[in-house]
Amino acid sequence: MRVLVLHGPNLNLLGEREPAVYGRATLEEIDARIGERGRHLGAEVRTFQSNHEGALIDRLHAERRWADGILFNPGALTHYAWSLRDAVGAVSLPCIEVHLSDVTRREPWRRVSVLADVRAALCAGRGLDSYLEALELLLEIAPGPEQGAEETAVELAERLARPDERDVVARELAQIVRRAGRFRWVAIYDVGATEVEVRGWAGPGPPAHPRLPRTDGLTGAAVASGQPVIVQDVRGDPRHLATLEGTRAEAIFPVSGPSGVVGTLDVESANAQAFTPDRVRWLERCVQALATFWRTGGSSS
Ligand code: DQA
Repeated sequence: MRVLVLHGPNLNLLGEREPAVYGRATLEEIDARIGERGRHLGAEVRTFQSNHEGALIDRLHAERRWADGILFNPGALTHYAWSLRDAVGAVSLPCIEVHLSDVTRREPWRRVSVLADVRAALCAGRGLDSYLEALELLLEIAPGPEQGAEETAVELAERLARPDERDVVARELAQIVRRAGRFRWVAIYDVGATEVEVRGWAGPGPPAHPRLPRTDGLTGAAVASGQPVIVQDVRGDPRHLATLEGTRAEAIFPVSGPSGVVGTLDVESANAQAFTPDRVRWLERCVQALATFWRTGGSSS
């Protein structure tokens, strides 16, 4: 997992700046400790500090395809810099807001945070430990898949090579993706001329819509475009057709044959922002391996 740590204005003066409020650790020391904890937890960390709002936004944009999550202490910009809120919303990465001091118990103006509706959590009031707690939390919220993409692709190919009924194969493929990728719910659909129909699923319950018109919902959007549709928070997307209570993020990956889309892989998570670049790459590799399911009919029986 790759973590981008952003520090806003005046945090370069940590160590000498109001030590009674912010502690005696310098920014260099804080960054070193985050890096150290990251290595211990198997995460790669990049840190950046700026006194300028635009520079923070530029760095966020530049790292958006590298990072899987963000720790962000925007300093005083937290309380009024709405373009930072939009930048975090735009990159669709899980973001934890961090503060050394307890901003919820200081002056009233510090209680306002522009990140309130786009952050995954707030860690504040514990000095350097706010960052370390936030790092651990981020790794919990957005953990990488349990098993590598190549290993999972091999497992999927092995299952595809064993002849069985098509529904049985589909169910077991969904189970592999669900377990190896630590997802809440996974399903495999056939896409026909007019309808989309579930072939196999794995998770806490069956789909609410086992068959649906091929134009409906997020699946309809993926089928029409032939491109993956990734929604980091389904509550804000009117195309979402609720399959399971509690789903927050959903991704649909279409698979195309010579005459258009023939199937989809549907993946759901209980965490908004769950589809980090790392996980999307992982799922794309699975979809490549799964394509055989539709090419061969998924069965030799
Ligand atoms: C801060 C809190 C902000 O209110 C303040 O403007 C800072 C530091 C913190 O880490 O406690 O610069 O973000």
